[in-house]
Amino acid sequence: MTAFVDGFAASVVAWQKTRGRNDLPWQASQDPYRVWLSEIMLQQTQVVTVRAYFTRFVERFPTVADLAVASLDDVLGLWSGLGYYSRARNLHQCAQDIVALHKGQFPQTAQSLQTLPGIGRSTAAAIASLCFGERVAILDANVRRVVTRLLCFDADPGRTSNERALWDAASKLLPQPEDTRSTMAGYTQGMMDLGAMVCLPKDPRCGECPVQAFCQAQAQGSQHNYPVRKRKIKRSSESIWLLWLRTDSGLVWLSKRPTPGVWAGLHCLPLHTSLYELTRQVPDPLRQELHALPAFTHVLTHKDLDLHPLCLTVQDTTSCWGEGRWVGLSELARLGLPAPIRKLLLKSPEFPGAA
Ligand code: ADE
Repeated sequence: MTAFVDGFAASVVAWQKTRGRNDLPWQASQDPYRVWLSEIMLQQTQVVTVRAYFTRFVERFPTVADLAVASLDDVLGLWSGLGYYSRARNLHQCAQDIVALHKGQFPQTAQSLQTLPGIGRSTAAAIASLCFGERVAILDANVRRVVTRLLCFDADPGRTSNERALWDAASKLLPQPEDTRSTMAGYTQGMMDLGAMVCLPKDPRCGECPVQAFCQAQAQGSQHNYPVRKRKIKRSSESIWLLWLRTDSGLVWLSKRPTPGVWAGLHCLPLHTSLYELTRQVPDPLRQELHALPAFTHVLTHKDLDLHPLCLTVQDTTSCWGEGRWVGLSELARLGLPAPIRKLLLKSPEFPGAA
């Protein structure tokens, strides 16, 4: 693995020097203020558009302290046309925090940069590696494409564990620790440039790629399969009718949910799959007393539950059906209940003991 990693990073760095982008306005220095400003602007905007905005910004606000004392209106005015205005608000707040909390100096590590407004993991790593030579991986959209293709990484990025694995994989590709101070800036810029200029989404220019020999997707001809998209969870919905049987004295009839199934093991109002099923349980004169409460939806990870409560107040504890037991208010508060049932029973104005 080490040999692969060594050869990989060296190829990226060598290619960046001669074929990468080296004349962008924010590359003229390693000033973290300029690099930070460009990285924020480049988060959702193309280089061609950012150039002019960047130049205007640094002319108007040459230092982070100048930006910090500006009014938000001025900052938003200068940002006008770049879109995603939360970036400009965070930018302004970040400048003020740097002045107030860091004596006007940018923190020099990715970990510390990441605590500032608007600076996520990848942006923090970009600033720390480009300006301070820190050995940390970036993973913006372009670099994500490069890394997932290199490794045929097809795990669903919607899962936290897969996302972590991808960051780990990106970290393993970094230059070796002994030569990072001189190479990290070139490596980070090289990975960005590869993604933007060679490893294109639709028509990757594999013939021009300096790391073609390392690329598993290129070997298989499967470049277009990466990166995989977050898999959308198929959502479904289910309607459930709840029998809210209670006594005048405030007892509620609860049954324990079977395992497996929805709300397994919790105490719950008896559930029915249809209004017909519910009413069928209730003997005749009482059936007329059933009264419907407003339906509501409870959202689970994979499905929406449309809950339809029907309330029935009885005189004494002999009027009950099926498995379950009568529960008083004080015990109710201590029992494990599904969240929507707890809310219905304890917060509803329908309930005599409700708060
Ligand atoms: N996209 C994000 N950061 C960039 C940078 N420093 N140069 C070019 N494109 C980028």
